[in-house]
Amino acid sequence: MKLTPFYIEQFYAVHEFTAPYMFGSSDCESMSIGELLAFEPDAQEAFQQLWMGYTESQGDPELRELVASLYANLDPQGVVVLTGAQEGIFLFTLTVLEAGDHMIVQTPAYQSQYQNALDLGIEISGWTLRESEDNRWSLDWEMLPKLLQPNTRALLITTPNNPTSYTFTEAELAQLVAFAREHDLYLFSDEVYRSLDHGGKVAPSAVELYEKAIGLGVMSKAYGLAGLRIGWLASQDHNLIERIRDHKFYTTICNSAPSEFLAKVALRHRQVILDRNRGIIQANIAHLEPFFATYADRFAWTPPTSGAISFPRLRYGSASGFANSLIETCGVMMVPSTKFDWGDQHFRLGMGRRNLPEALHRVAEFLKA
Ligand SMILES: Cc1ncc(COP(=O)(O)O)c(C=O)c1O
Repeated sequence: MKLTPFYIEQFYAVHEFTAPYMFGSSDCESMSIGELLAFEPDAQEAFQQLWMGYTESQGDPELRELVASLYANLDPQGVVVLTGAQEGIFLFTLTVLEAGDHMIVQTPAYQSQYQNALDLGIEISGWTLRESEDNRWSLDWEMLPKLLQPNTRALLITTPNNPTSYTFTEAELAQLVAFAREHDLYLFSDEVYRSLDHGGKVAPSAVELYEKAIGLGVMSKAYGLAGLRIGWLASQDHNLIERIRDHKFYTTICNSAPSEFLAKVALRHRQVILDRNRGIIQANIAHLEPFFATYADRFAWTPPTSGAISFPRLRYGSASGFANSLIETCGVMMVPSTKFDWGDQHFRLGMGRRNLPEALHRVAEFLKA
């Protein structure tokens, strides 16, 4: 298997640790280990005493229990803990699909969701989101059945979507599950931004509705703990989880013990962490609204109702040119849509970082100049 370059990650490798303002990032504001341990009086001492040997390949049992509790009626046996969400995408592709199969992928999408499959010789069709003049996104239900092929084995969605934050409603998810069930398809549901509904509602997971659904979750995005590199796959299908665990022996074998410990602390206090992060996003939206109203002739933007990102459209000019100028002149990084194979008119805007108002000020100065 030859791997195609991962364009968005290459872009991050250049800018993530040099650009002062990460205005395009999809993860929420992080915190220090000290801040996290402070959630529990005895956590600091317990962390010092943690044994540093190998850990259970499927994941720490207590951590799997905490993860299972994020879904209705899910057994800890239906969870495999992984090194970030990316390992989950890779192992799902290797475990469920083979060369000659076909998968339908909701687009725009995070590149690895279709690239790992393409590199394995799997055919891909994009189920493209529709965009209105004012930058609202919607599903194209007429298109979906036309994409089916005799060799279609799986359907992949991201809800909330990266980069638009479009989120399936309960009714839409039920409709999609009915479609997948009718055609006996695996449904891979990337839910790394789940729990970031701005109103505080927790959206249902495909895992709760369908026996052939596989849900992807992670500590990186909604919880802002990307450095833990803790993600998971969840499914009612225990046999599938076991096969994924078996393939994990070839990638990472088991997870980092300190990271599993810290992920447990975070999940025990998830409500406080999620409330904090939703608060940051809401405060940032309050800054973004007047900005986009002022520059309505240059950008089309409608704030999403969930997630930590949005995907505004430039009314003229190239998004990659705009992104390059912003990095060079004011140290503000945003991600042009070329990194999502989605033309050159949009850019991904992250709303989960505390320094967004300063970045926005710099962008406004740049536009005035
Ligand atoms: C939709 C989506 N899935 C998976 C990932 C991978 O997440 P992680 O960095 O935690 O492995 C990302 C990261 O940006 C993402 O946006």
